[in-house]
Amino acid sequence: MTQRKTAAVILAAGKGTRMKSRLPKVMHPVAGRPMILHVLATLRPLKLDRAVVVLGPGMDAVAAAVAPHPVAIQAKQRGTGDAVMAARQALGRFTGDALVIYGDTPLLSPATLRRVLAARRRLPRPAIVVLGFEPADPAAYGRLVLARDGSLDAIVEYRDASRPERAIGLCNSGVMAADARLLFELLGEIDNRNAKREYYLTDIVARARARNLRCAVVRAPADELLGVNSRAELALAEAAVQARLRKAALEGGATLLDPSSVYFTHDTEIGRDVTIGPGVVFGPGVRVGEGAEIRAFCHIEGAVIGPGAVVGPFARLRPGAVIGAGAHIGNYVEIKQATIEPGAKVNHLSYIGDARVGADTNIGAGTITCNYDGFLKSRTDIGRGAFIGSNTALVAPVTIGDGAIIGAGSVITRDVAADSLAVTRAEQREAKGWAARYRRRKLAQKAARKTAKGQD
Ligand code: UD1
Ligand code: CA
Repeated sequence: MTQRKTAAVILAAGKGTRMKSRLPKVMHPVAGRPMILHVLATLRPLKLDRAVVVLGPGMDAVAAAVAPHPVAIQAKQRGTGDAVMAARQALGRFTGDALVIYGDTPLLSPATLRRVLAARRRLPRPAIVVLGFEPADPAAYGRLVLARDGSLDAIVEYRDASRPERAIGLCNSGVMAADARLLFELLGEIDNRNAKREYYLTDIVARARARNLRCAVVRAPADELLGVNSRAELALAEAAVQARLRKAALEGGATLLDPSSVYFTHDTEIGRDVTIGPGVVFGPGVRVGEGAEIRAFCHIEGAVIGPGAVVGPFARLRPGAVIGAGAHIGNYVEIKQATIEPGAKVNHLSYIGDARVGADTNIGAGTITCNYDGFLKSRTDIGRGAFIGSNTALVAPVTIGDGAIIGAGSVITRDVAADSLAVTRAEQREAKGWAARYRRRKLAQKAARKTAKGQD
């Protein structure tokens, strides 16, 4: 049998009123990525023939985020059934199965969607397959009403449900598969005579039953089907995705000393034998090489950390930080748009931005690359095997040659040649016995003042 063609329709036109946000609901990030992009990422391995995203008017930021996927515009948010209808034109003459997914369901897995599509093909080929789940708290989800034989009879929205229907624990996830032509035919029959005065996609099940067509339910674990309608549900989704990412890091061979305190982004790449301390936060675009150690309380984004490097505790790596193999980045150090070559050390209280630090160079405590003059950013280039004394200000643009030494407390404004010593601080003076004489004089003054007061 040839594989049946499948198109996805992703609904994301809803206003998401319950989020109380200016941002469209599906743009709220989970693990650093907008929910709608989680859904599209879930679809990718299925290699579907088409995927159309349904948006409301003026949701240009969402359209840009989902590009190059085609977008259909639902003129007015009149319900999920109306939203699917809005995709009809974009699907053109498509024949095959349509898979409907809601853009606010970011935890779905490709495996579950595959099971839904497979169920459509299984004899006696159900006309509609609905993905159901049993959440711990069924709350306001639509309820799946089953027939005696276990097939699906109807989906009843919570607001329209009777008491016994509300007692049903099996809920609608929003994922559905049906023959595309039949789907649009049934959608043509639904109305909005219900509690929300909306055209419910879910009503197509009853319409199919009226034609004596069989509908089926595929069940999936509840932790995949959380629908995000509020900030509280967004927090639940975040927690679920973080739990998955932590598990994946552990399974990939990393040690997490306190997994629940480590926060990943969907794209964080952690090598084997990496150790991550408590309270570490990974922003987008981080790759950590084998055997590296990230000590407690680091904030890391857009950074590549080489094998065996040690970062933290309390370090901040910003976008463009490249930490070479075996390099050390210590406490209260910030690195931005800078390459720290293998074996180099930046161990204490430093800011290194728009710079290169050559291999095996040591950067003393409190070194600052002054990369910004209030108007422009400039680069600092430090060679290999150099030594920068503590509390040095390197005023960019400036180049420090290989093997050069900078005396502590210097303000370096001109290039330093390889193997030179550069010091810019005032020379040290010493007055022998001055401190003792000073103390004696001051004590005498104090005593004199006290006597004068007593005589008043
Ligand atoms: C919907 C289902 C409910 C199910 C739940 C699962 C309906 C009628 N109800 O309820 O059975 O248990 O999802 O999470 O389908 N949308 C549009 N245009 C609209 C309305 C909604 O594109 O006019 C989009 C939203 O952006 C959202 C999705 O459809 O991504 C679901 O809409 P939402 O309002 O969240 O539906 P629920 O009330 O959660
Ligand atoms: Ca929802």
